[in-house]
Amino acid sequence: MRKKLYIETLGCAMNVRDSEHIVAELRERESYELTESLEEADLIIINTCSVREKPVAKLFSEIGVFQKKRKEGARIGVTGCTASHLGEEIIKRAPAVDFVLGARNVSKISSVVNRRHAVEIATDHDETLYDFSEYRSNPYKALINISIGCDKRCTFCIVPVTRGEELSIPSEIIVAEVRRAVASGAKEVTLLGQNVNNYGRRFSSGVSGAKNFTELLREVSKVEGLYRIRFTSPHPLHMDDEFLEEFAKNPKIAPQIHVPLQSGSSRILKRMKRGYSKEWFLDRCEKIRKMVPGVSISTDIIVGFPGESEEDFEETMDVLERVRFDQLFSFKYSPRPHTAAAQYEEQVDSQTASARLSRLQARHREIQEELMKSRAGAVEEVYFEELRSGGKAAGRTADGKLVLVEGSEELLGTLRDVEIERATLTTLLGRIV
Ligand code: 5AD
Ligand code: SF4
Repeated sequence: MRKKLYIETLGCAMNVRDSEHIVAELRERESYELTESLEEADLIIINTCSVREKPVAKLFSEIGVFQKKRKEGARIGVTGCTASHLGEEIIKRAPAVDFVLGARNVSKISSVVNRRHAVEIATDHDETLYDFSEYRSNPYKALINISIGCDKRCTFCIVPVTRGEELSIPSEIIVAEVRRAVASGAKEVTLLGQNVNNYGRRFSSGVSGAKNFTELLREVSKVEGLYRIRFTSPHPLHMDDEFLEEFAKNPKIAPQIHVPLQSGSSRILKRMKRGYSKEWFLDRCEKIRKMVPGVSISTDIIVGFPGESEEDFEETMDVLERVRFDQLFSFKYSPRPHTAAAQYEEQVDSQTASARLSRLQARHREIQEELMKSRAGAVEEVYFEELRSGGKAAGRTADGKLVLVEGSEELLGTLRDVEIERATLTTLLGRIV
């Protein structure tokens, strides 16, 4: 009988893909199959995120819950970014944990899974040439890693500590993976990296034929049967004109882009070491809107970064007003270990930061509502990717908006014209025409 694996995934798309790799390796090499039931699992894995403090605190209470609910003899593993930066400390604080596997060590999963108290967290491990076994939680769309790690030193961010230095995966490996995904039913791929448009800066030693991100996009778009390419996350600093032109004119690249602002104040951006100013950010967004009609732009914003004054925050509000983001991921600054900003004086008090966050989110909600409402009546090309409860099928417009229609299995993996009848804050509701 196959053993059962329960896996919980926190954090970003990169972690989602790492979890798929973990499942694939354990299925292939250790004879596990996935279960949705914690109680029947022989192995429980929690794939963690450490980008903010909250999920880290949650980890230990979660381990406590797993310990109580697990069946006798079930093992517990902690993987991902918190595993990278806390390492052995996790086992010291929670001895029920059987192994700890860092975010850059996914390929070692089958070697730690049976070793009591194994800790593998090297952040210089090179996984860019590793041939992972195949598993995708959704056959209709594929996440594809193009680089690992991050070379930036944004002063708020723990990721370079947990995922190590940036290494790009050779383009032939990426294109081959895209081909396999398309052959098994995916018409859409999302290229993944901490800083995707810095692709090509450094490869594993001995790799030749380097390409930059724009060239990689061209290569990937040649794959037959592939309709939509998305990517996340790019960095505003590396959005040069050559890239924007490819983004605008390549019909396979979906008109959706994440442009993480972090702050609208050039003074704060400098303290964050982001490498661009408010003006550069606005210029890029303006250019994107001009070159790509109907594009959707999403962003990340941190409020309450150390030293952020009321005026600095107004600059952020000003960018929100000018760009009118389709989607906003906003966070209260959270000091992280091993980061420069955690040492900065002038930490903003929590109440002030909360008040700013509420104001930002409230204004964004109004904008988002207007943008979504304006879609009613339009006919959109929707790619259907999964079923939802109540006899609904879910898909995405080219610019990434969630669409629900009445429908079943036969819609999945197809592109259909949908007339949008109604819009909520997050969802377009329509019917196939
Ligand atoms: N505090 C709050 N938000 C953070 N992010 C990264 N580090 C921190 C931190 N220390 C946010 C950034 C990033 C997103 C993934 O998480 O906005 O783009
Ligand atoms: Fe979280 Fe960042 Fe690690 Fe993703 S890379 S899991 S967002 S800390």
